[in-house]
Amino acid sequence: MSKNPIILGIETSCDETAVSIIQDHESGTPKILSNIVSSQFDIHKEFGGVVPELAARSHVEKINLIAKKALNESGININEISAVAATAGPGLIICLSVGLNFGKALATSLDIPFIGVNHLEGHALSPKLHTKISYPYLVLLISGGHSQFLSVNGLGKYKRLGTTIDDALGEAFDKTAKLLGIEFPGGSKLEKFAEMGNPNKFELPKPIINKGGCNLSFAGLKTAILRIAKNINSDEERRDLAASFQKTIEQIIYIKSKNAINDFLKNNSIEENYFVVAGGVAANKGIRNKLIKLSNESNFKVIFPDLHLCGDNAAMIALVGLEKYRIKMFDDIGLEASPRLPLDKNADFLKGSGIKY
Ligand code: KG4
Ligand code: ZN
Repeated sequence: MSKNPIILGIETSCDETAVSIIQDHESGTPKILSNIVSSQFDIHKEFGGVVPELAARSHVEKINLIAKKALNESGININEISAVAATAGPGLIICLSVGLNFGKALATSLDIPFIGVNHLEGHALSPKLHTKISYPYLVLLISGGHSQFLSVNGLGKYKRLGTTIDDALGEAFDKTAKLLGIEFPGGSKLEKFAEMGNPNKFELPKPIINKGGCNLSFAGLKTAILRIAKNINSDEERRDLAASFQKTIEQIIYIKSKNAINDFLKNNSIEENYFVVAGGVAANKGIRNKLIKLSNESNFKVIFPDLHLCGDNAAMIALVGLEKYRIKMFDDIGLEASPRLPLDKNADFLKGSGIKY
C-alpha cells in the first residue's frame, strides 16, 4: 500500500452524478484533490420531484465525463489511484447501479480494491473531511430521504437512537415549498423566502413532540400547511406561512436533539462530546443557529460539514472508502446495489420509542 493512499469516490444514489478524488494526509484529515457534483435539477423540476428513469439515464450519459473531469482536476495519474469506492445503497436502485457498476469496472481494469459504501455512512462521516473528530459521536442526519439520530461508535458501528416515523425533513421542506409555489427542490429557496415573513403568524402542530424520545414526525405538519395554503392568496401570507414553518421545524429539531443528547449521554461518558449535523438540510441557517445554541447549553461541540459537503457528493463516499481502505475492508466485485441499506441493522422500527400506532 502506498504511504498516502488515493481514493476515487463515486455517488449516483439519487439525482447527483458525483466523482471525487481524495488523498490521505498526515494531519488526520484527507486532502480533497477534486470534488465534482453534477446536479439534475433542470431535468426534474418540471415534474416537481425526481423521476428515477430520467435520473438513471442522465447518470449513464454523464458518469464517464464527470470521472474524467475529477481526474483532470486532481492532477494525479489514473494509475496512482489506490482504490475505488462507490455508493451501494440506500437509494434508487437503477441510479445506484450506474455508479456501482462503473466503479467495479474501473477497479477491475486498474486491478485495485473496490469498496462499496453506505450513502448514510458518507453523510455521517462527512465532517471528517475537514475536522478531526474522535468516536463516539452523536449525529443528526437530515436529508431528502432520511432523518435520524445516530450514535457513531466507530467505523461500521452505528446505533440508531431515533428516526422519522413518516416523512424525511428534506421531504417536508420540499413538499411545503411546492404548496407555496416554490420550484423543486425547494428547501433552500423556502428558507430564503421565509426570511421576510412573520414566524408567529400561524400556529402549526409539532407532531409527537412530547413522546417518542428522539423519533421525529412531519406528516401532520404538512397536512396543516396544506389546509392553510388553500385559504391564502397574498405573497405576504405565503411568506408568513413559510416563516412559521421554518420556526416550527427549528423548535422540533431543538427539542428532539435535546432528547437525543440525553440518550447519547446515557451510554457514553467521554470528556469531549461532539454533535455532528449532516445531510442536505444541515445547510439550513436557522436550524444551524438553534443547534449551536443547544450545543452550547449541553456542553457539546457542534460540527457541520462545510456547505458544499452537506448535500450529496462523492468526497464523503471517498472518505468512507479511505477509512475502510486503511483497515483493508474491501468488497467483492459481485456486490449488488441495495435500495434499502440501514446503518443500524439491529434497529427495529420504533422499538422502545413509546409510540403506538
Ligand atoms: O443530502 P441531500 O443532498 O440528498 C439526499 O440524500 O436526500 O439532501 C437534499 C435535501 C432536499 O430535500 C433539499 O430541499 C434539502 O436537502 N435542503 C434544504 C436546504 N438545502 C437543501 N432544506 C432546508 N434548508 C436548506 N437550506
Ligand atoms: Zn444524501
